[in-house]
Amino acid sequence: MSLLPHGGILVNRFNGEYDYSALTKEVELDNFSLSDLELIAIGAFSPLTGFMSSNDYNEVVKNMRLANGLVWSIPITLPVTEEVAATLQVGDQVKLVQNGVVYGVLELSEIYTPDKKFEAVQVYRTDELAHPGVCKLLERPNVYLAGQITMVKRPEKNEFKEFSLDPSEVREVFASKGWKTIVGFQTRNPVHRAHEYIQKCALEIVDGLFLNPLVGETKADDIPANVRMESYQVLLEKYYPKDRVFLAVFPAAMRYAGPREAIFHAMVRKNFGCTHFIVGRDHAGVGNYYGTYDAQLIFRNFTPEELGITPLFFEHSFFCKKCGNMASTKTCPHSMEDRLILSGTKVRQMLSNGEVPPPEFSRKEVVEVLIRGVRVPSV
Ligand code: ADX
Repeated sequence: MSLLPHGGILVNRFNGEYDYSALTKEVELDNFSLSDLELIAIGAFSPLTGFMSSNDYNEVVKNMRLANGLVWSIPITLPVTEEVAATLQVGDQVKLVQNGVVYGVLELSEIYTPDKKFEAVQVYRTDELAHPGVCKLLERPNVYLAGQITMVKRPEKNEFKEFSLDPSEVREVFASKGWKTIVGFQTRNPVHRAHEYIQKCALEIVDGLFLNPLVGETKADDIPANVRMESYQVLLEKYYPKDRVFLAVFPAAMRYAGPREAIFHAMVRKNFGCTHFIVGRDHAGVGNYYGTYDAQLIFRNFTPEELGITPLFFEHSFFCKKCGNMASTKTCPHSMEDRLILSGTKVRQMLSNGEVPPPEFSRKEVVEVLIRGVRVPSV
């Protein structure tokens, strides 16, 4: 499998020299849009070169493809209010601003009003406000702006500077390590034993693991990214071979779109240079909105050639007391009572109840970081 980015070319829409001094129109970005802007500019969202036109958007929403037929499962849009839209005209060059700082310029090619309920049902499989992705979608403004972007300034990377690498840089790292096959791992949780198990199963068959935790916007009860990052570093230090793992952050917002987000996560990791991508149980899911393996089944809609990255599917893994190790129903013959069922949600619940997750659940070094990080009194 080659390391070609999605669509064949790694997009680069950054130009620090771009002269925007004569431009008068501007749009204020929320953090979600600023992160999308950056991910487009650095090529993480290749082949996208801007915010989606209605043609692309409608195809993505209905058929999980761009208008040119390429696989793409999540709309990448720039929502603004009707009042802001009324100040703009197709053909304008619009400054993209946050708190007085200009981060980019949009060549406005279209202004359109989406059917967000339809978008919700198609993308999230529900229009319930209790779903955090749907809630976010519906609370953002109602008009979408489309057009190519140029990023003129990168947001400051105060927090995870040494772990913030562009797809082109990550690709160079992989090449310098001589890795030909690389498995990407998406997570928004501290790595627990089930994560470790499936990562290491994958590591048995590929050259390297790209641990790529999402550090953009998440829902309020997810463990903060800085605490997670500390836990990943401790874990890698103690339990992973140094020359087989590479850790870098994924600065995207979490959509909680389950199956559709699994496809999106895979395409983006392909752009970072991965040849394989792990999809376990309820990938990018939330609550009970998706079936345990829906995020795996959705890959059947596409041929291996059009995906260009090989998904590695894993069963729900757990610690089996009788086996004395991690397993899944594929490898363990014992009963439910012998199994300790693990999940990020469960670890979060235990921590917030002041309970210390046992070592079968989470490595003790990770637990120590989490307890310190979420300031739960130790018991
Ligand atoms: S998320 O971004 O997909 O929401 P999460 O941290 O919950 O992140 O999961 C990361 C990856 O590990 C996903 O592919 C998920 O399917 C997988 N995973 C999480 N827990 C388990 C488990 N117990 N068994 C198998 N796969 C799991």
